Amino acid sequence: MVVTSESKTQRTGSPTKQRPPGPKGLPFVGMIREYASDQLGFLTRAAQTYGDVFVVPIMGEDIYVFVHPDAIEEILVKKHAQFHKNRGMKHLSVGVGQGLLISEDQVWKQSRKLVAPSFKRKQIATYADTMVRHALHHSKQLQQAAMHDITQVMNHLALDVVADTMFGASIDEHGELISEAVDHMMEWFIQRMRSWRRILPPNFPTLRRLRAKRKIQEVDKVLFRIIEERRSSSEERNDLLHLLLHATDEEGNTLSNQQLRDEAFTIFVAGHETTALALSYAVWLLAMHPERQQRLCAEVDEVLQGRPATADDLKDLTYTNAVVHETMRLYPPAWAMGREALEDVEVFGTFVPKGAQIFLPPWVVHRDSRWYDSPEEFHPERWIEKPASQRHRFAWMPFGGGARICVGNHFAMMEANLLLATLFQHVRFAPIDQEPLVLSPAVTLRPTHGIPLHIRPRNLA
Ligand code: HEM
Repeated sequence: MVVTSESKTQRTGSPTKQRPPGPKGLPFVGMIREYASDQLGFLTRAAQTYGDVFVVPIMGEDIYVFVHPDAIEEILVKKHAQFHKNRGMKHLSVGVGQGLLISEDQVWKQSRKLVAPSFKRKQIATYADTMVRHALHHSKQLQQAAMHDITQVMNHLALDVVADTMFGASIDEHGELISEAVDHMMEWFIQRMRSWRRILPPNFPTLRRLRAKRKIQEVDKVLFRIIEERRSSSEERNDLLHLLLHATDEEGNTLSNQQLRDEAFTIFVAGHETTALALSYAVWLLAMHPERQQRLCAEVDEVLQGRPATADDLKDLTYTNAVVHETMRLYPPAWAMGREALEDVEVFGTFVPKGAQIFLPPWVVHRDSRWYDSPEEFHPERWIEKPASQRHRFAWMPFGGGARICVGNHFAMMEANLLLATLFQHVRFAPIDQEPLVLSPAVTLRPTHGIPLHIRPRNLA
């Protein structure tokens, strides 16, 4: 990244109430057109022009963007109490209610305390077999196909995993219904964020919102029924719902039915598409780089010796893990995080006024040549030469950081590694063309046209 001298003075100069630099745009609408047509390119170019802190005017509002890891650490860790999630995210409450993703203060603190223990490494390890079982099932199906949109396969796979680990057998055929409700909610949310509709009040009854709401009501009937059934059963189960039902904090608090419903839906929203995207990009990158695919397959064969992967194998799947890191560096599924300043606050030597909407884009940070050599290149080896622990904590932040770090980060890392290893035990992938992906950044970073790939069963590869 080329950093202008203007931005360098911001880092060292004393904070003033001066507005940071940034593009001006048209009256009122600001930069909405330029931004909405190419968010990733726009933010990257703005960082190159204006530096580590800049402001983008959109629909009458200044969006403060920070792309230096120190600034991001200040917001997410050191001064996190002075920020809430951004206003846009709050619209997701139509589906996730007061779940972890968007709740704040005491409500968030209490839920996080109750939910977090269920996502500890040791607990998560008990889901390894479930993850591998689903990956095996989908690998077998893939062996029958010559070509497939890999994003669809990964979506199904990640949905099966999250549904099974969350609800066990209780969910049966309802996984798809929840997935549809999440899709409707996201469609509504994306349409809103990308257009003038962002200025409408959150409850404004657009057609898409009504459609999403109706689906969510259907899901709620199912979720509350499952929760009630579980409450009245004494059966011991090894799924997240069981753990959450029995979770207690030191004051004896437990989760109510409404909180359980909100957390379950949140986990579907937060944990399903993100992981599916990480896996899809990993498979695509490996298809585009056959020598790296070869190296991963060689590692998988050597470590697993033809048997199904287990949680114990993770420590030996070094290259697979490097591929997962490198994929999420280049294609962070949560490509940007949003915050709102609760009060006037100084960040990175910059004055940020109360109420300011803030944007922290891993997409830009992860492709900055100050933190990565040849940042645009897919080079998993960099994570073996210099692991994440030896880099700036916020130079690689696909899971965010600080108090609100992704509660499912160990789950996601384990899932991505096990699923990738299992897939490449059975199938090989090749690109259909050498074109770069067209991306649609919304809440998550989606490939606009899916990712069709050639597929070959392992023994024919
Ligand atoms: C590759 C996969 C994943 C990625 C990239 C990802 C990314 C993130 C990020 C960046 C945040 C923080 C957002 C912010 O600070 O504004 C977050 C929060 C969260 N994630 Fe994930 N996530 C992934 C998988 C999962 C999984 C598998 C689950 C659950 C099974 C999950 C559940 C959550 C929850 C509940 C939160 C809110 C935590 C809180 O605020 O206390 N995520 N995720």
